[in-house]
Amino acid sequence: MLIRPRRNRKNPAIRAMIEETTLRPANLIYPLFITNSNIQKEAISSLPDLYRLNFEGLCIEIEEAVEAGLRTFVLFPVIEESKKDKIASHSYAEDNFYLTYIRDLKERFPGIVLMSDVAMDPYSSDGHDGYVENGEILNDKTLPILGKMAVAQAQAGIDIIGPSDMMDGRVRFIREELDKVELEHVSIMSYTAKYASAYYGPFRDALDSAPKAGDKKTYQMNPANKQEALREADLDEVEGADFLMVKPALCYLDVIALLKENSNLPIAAYNVSGEYAMLKAACQNGWLDYDKAMPEMLLSMRRAGADSILTYFAKDFAKLYKSLL
Ligand code: PBG
Repeated sequence: MLIRPRRNRKNPAIRAMIEETTLRPANLIYPLFITNSNIQKEAISSLPDLYRLNFEGLCIEIEEAVEAGLRTFVLFPVIEESKKDKIASHSYAEDNFYLTYIRDLKERFPGIVLMSDVAMDPYSSDGHDGYVENGEILNDKTLPILGKMAVAQAQAGIDIIGPSDMMDGRVRFIREELDKVELEHVSIMSYTAKYASAYYGPFRDALDSAPKAGDKKTYQMNPANKQEALREADLDEVEGADFLMVKPALCYLDVIALLKENSNLPIAAYNVSGEYAMLKAACQNGWLDYDKAMPEMLLSMRRAGADSILTYFAKDFAKLYKSLL
């Protein structure tokens, strides 16, 4: 035998020398569920070890995460049913705790990067990402609402706006609204290829944000489609997105690879709640080894081409990484 690939795997130093893909805490964005409740941390049954946090709980969690090496966070609000309406008006209301928390966090932790969620669903009495009329999700009537929401978040100090709603034309609409009020430094990470996935279930439990009627298939993408992701990517690029995102990640590694090959923009992958829940459940049952299976899952997304990963594993990974340094 002239050729023996095993020679390149014969010891840890050689293996490390030729390692093709890296994964560091700096690549990760940590999603957090926030409330204005007086309970500091509230368990979420389908997301073991994750909590709905009030401001105090949030500060403790961020401090611990920063200590472990994380810097970027994405915030999702749990909104009381009584504050929800057809036009998601609470999303840009003065007294929305989401906006207050952004302001206060930026003051308390000046070094962190905060990303928002822009979509109507947490604030909508219909539980949809867009404005609903006679059972239909209306695209163009949704855009001004998203614009107001994005401007309110940006004025509160958010660094990256994250439109997750999949309405057509929203990246451009939001970009123009931001620029009109001199918020041109605020970035947009577009949920570019967001699929109508079953893996969002635990997230909707956490926020109590599931659609009251129907599903999200007229705006989120068909899991069978890949070519269409390129079309969405082309649009987001010309509309002014700063990052493109693929969501979910694990079942869509091919889409991550496709966008990476076809775009000069950084690509993010969203390792969603259902992906977290299934790995956690297997590990809690003793069927998989958490400290090995979790980094392997994240590495697959980096290998596919993701520059950054939104993941509920972020803090655990950062701690593990630090312990191995
Ligand atoms: C809503 C939104 C969803 C997620 C992020 N933003 C759910 C949905 O589209 O129904 C899912 C994230 C996850 O499952 O971790 N705009």
